[in-house]
Amino acid sequence: MEQTLSIEQFENNLINAAKANKQRIVLPEGECDRVLKAAHDALAQDIADIIILGNPEMIHTKEKGLGLDLSKAHIIDHLNATEFEDYANTLAELRKAKGLTLEEARDMMKDGAYFGTMMVYKGVADGMVSGAEHTTANTIRPALQFIKTKPGATMVSGAFLMCYNGQLQVFADCAVTPNPTSEQLSEIAVTSAQTARIFGLEPRVAFLSYSTGTSSKGPSVDLVNEAIRLTREKNVDFAFEGPIQFDAAVDPEVAKTKLPNSPVAGHANVFVFPELNTGNCCYKAIQRALGDKCLAVGPILQGLNKPVNDLSRGATVKDIINTIAFTALFAQQKG
Ligand code: ACO
Repeated sequence: MEQTLSIEQFENNLINAAKANKQRIVLPEGECDRVLKAAHDALAQDIADIIILGNPEMIHTKEKGLGLDLSKAHIIDHLNATEFEDYANTLAELRKAKGLTLEEARDMMKDGAYFGTMMVYKGVADGMVSGAEHTTANTIRPALQFIKTKPGATMVSGAFLMCYNGQLQVFADCAVTPNPTSEQLSEIAVTSAQTARIFGLEPRVAFLSYSTGTSSKGPSVDLVNEAIRLTREKNVDFAFEGPIQFDAAVDPEVAKTKLPNSPVAGHANVFVFPELNTGNCCYKAIQRALGDKCLAVGPILQGLNKPVNDLSRGATVKDIINTIAFTALFAQQKG
């Protein structure tokens, strides 16, 4: 089992890992004070090379007013950028089969999320972080449309790293797919196990349900059972268990009674929720109930070919810095 890990240790590890191999991260929301403050901190701590999209005059006025130093940031006025036409052309070409015209592509490219995602697609940025002032759908749709999934993946899911009670855990899907099929639940388990390894955890995956073993029946339990059968067929290189209730997954005493011979029960560190409502409600409930005794980092968009990550609109400056750091960490994986 892993050693205990405090929130402070986890954050330090995250920041140090990002610093060890600096990546270029684009922040399309240059109009947002929290984003600019996070950019200042990320530059001051040397976490990443920062690209900010927006009107330079407005950004410099805010920089002065907020007492920031963004002199090391690369600021791009994307509406007037020399690359604008090339990016619109590329988008139109990539979405030709969907009937997208060049004129429509130009309109879409005015949106910083499209421009920033195109920078990542073209390889002039290594990752994008957005969503402080936009919805999840607005932030991730461009990535779903043309960054697409990485080889071997068919879907994108959203994981949260939950650091509480001295433990680090991965919760998924908490952000993207409302009603996953059994195939998708199995894929969420595989990509979440990969995410766990990126953060130094040896994955022990729990397929969560209201049933532990055969204790209850129902269509949603069948869905989870089928996901487990499919995962078994894949000969995956991590331990998994399910269907299993949350208490049996995390509490060794409950596990002894409910699933005494399971190597995962009582010690799970990756949790696959049966659908989005449960995943999203659970991570927020734990985060709110524990307050500053819990750090929830994410959503980490898993399965994308290149890293693009969404911020909650309630994201603090610290949340944005953490998201910049884990986006950089995922960008490092490209080798
Ligand atoms: N993985 C990979 N690709 C996907 C996925 C997925 N999970 N979902 C959609 N796509 C692709 C589609 O295949 C499609 O590609 P194509 O246009 O090339 O054919 C493209 O994305 C658009 O798909 P749509 O079906 O039109 O989906 P839409 O853009 O309407 O919605 C979205 C996709 C935004 C992810 C939607 O499922 C959604 O809104 N999910 C919930 C997001 C949310 O609100 N989460 C909770 C808040 S997050 C938080 O609290 C932290």
